Amino acid sequence: MTGGGDVPPLNAVIASAREASLEHHIELVGFLQGWSGLIENQYVELSGVSINPLIGGTILKSSRVSLEKTLGGIEKAKENFNRLGLDGLIVIGGEDTLSNSFNLPDIPQVLISKTIDNDVGIIRQNDSQNGESEIINYFTLGFPTAARKISSFVSLRDGLRTTAYSHERIIVVESMGMHAGWLALSSSMGHPDFIVIPEFPLNYDRFAEEVYGRYQRQKHIIIVVAEGARFTNGSYISADENEKDDFGHPRFRGSAETLANKLKDDLRKYFDTRNVNAVNPSYLYRSGIPLNLDLRWAKRLGREAVNLLSRQAEKRIFLTIKKKEKGFSIASYPLSDVKSIDEIHRFVSESFYNPDEYMVTPEGKKYLSEIVPEYREIDYGLT
Ligand code: F6P
Repeated sequence: MTGGGDVPPLNAVIASAREASLEHHIELVGFLQGWSGLIENQYVELSGVSINPLIGGTILKSSRVSLEKTLGGIEKAKENFNRLGLDGLIVIGGEDTLSNSFNLPDIPQVLISKTIDNDVGIIRQNDSQNGESEIINYFTLGFPTAARKISSFVSLRDGLRTTAYSHERIIVVESMGMHAGWLALSSSMGHPDFIVIPEFPLNYDRFAEEVYGRYQRQKHIIIVVAEGARFTNGSYISADENEKDDFGHPRFRGSAETLANKLKDDLRKYFDTRNVNAVNPSYLYRSGIPLNLDLRWAKRLGREAVNLLSRQAEKRIFLTIKKKEKGFSIASYPLSDVKSIDEIHRFVSESFYNPDEYMVTPEGKKYLSEIVPEYREIDYGLT
């Protein structure tokens, strides 16, 4: 099943799981719309379905359903699993979708993380100053493609920087990411001027001063702000907390637009702020075909999930992408000792983001450079 926000390499996971299951003579069914499919017993036989791994989105469709919040959800899921005589589940999702799996500890499951938010995994910082950090699940599927997109959107070569300098604009670009700023951080590979992420609440007055200072020198600015960013008083830059989903997340209303409007008003006393704009690429981050890195690892993960379930070694496995000296490999992370999704929900820390400069740190850049290519540094020419 696939749940949560779709990402470009989902069909590639399903296609390769199908291929592996045909080779092993395993019957593979796909539940429709994530966990709803299991609760409602809605599924398709995948052996006869031809799947194009290059087409983004998910042929199995998606939903955001909490087993706990659905009346009888856990019981119905167990019942249908048993009634169909299944041996295991492959759950492909982000933090919310995967959290449901913790309600079914007796069902063999392989979890594959996909989310443009890149927030499923563990990063343990090493104590030594320049020490490497230990990273479990280097990236989540969909993040490489989205990271490439956001860095291109802000870049000089492919993105907004050209109109920003030509018109002396301040452009505030919104990134997805409710709690975690990985996607916003990855825009650093396209060289925006400031990045604001949810993990580090924004002292707005100080920020506005910094923006003005930079504008005086440079005459154009690109700011990236995550949708879930907050002010230091704890309130979201822009969210409707009265409208919450199954998992308690508020509906975000456009942090880029709110921040741009605020800067427009507050900096008007210094210069003509009519050219302060907001851009929200929104679902474009997760649309389209998967880039190579996503595609390659989606295929491997799909295949490995079937292999693992056919061996039935552990009950619940988180299938992760591990960094090797060169390239990546797949590693199984047993979930037997993990009590809830919170233990594998990761955030950007100070070693990857410098809140004083609103920018990625060298260590953060090193991490990202394994995933997304960096644009050339900006040469402003005459400006
Ligand atoms: O969970 C992934 C994600 O892309 C988040 O970054 C974003 O907040 C959310 O999906 C929005 O998705 P939707 O509008 O489909 O609920």
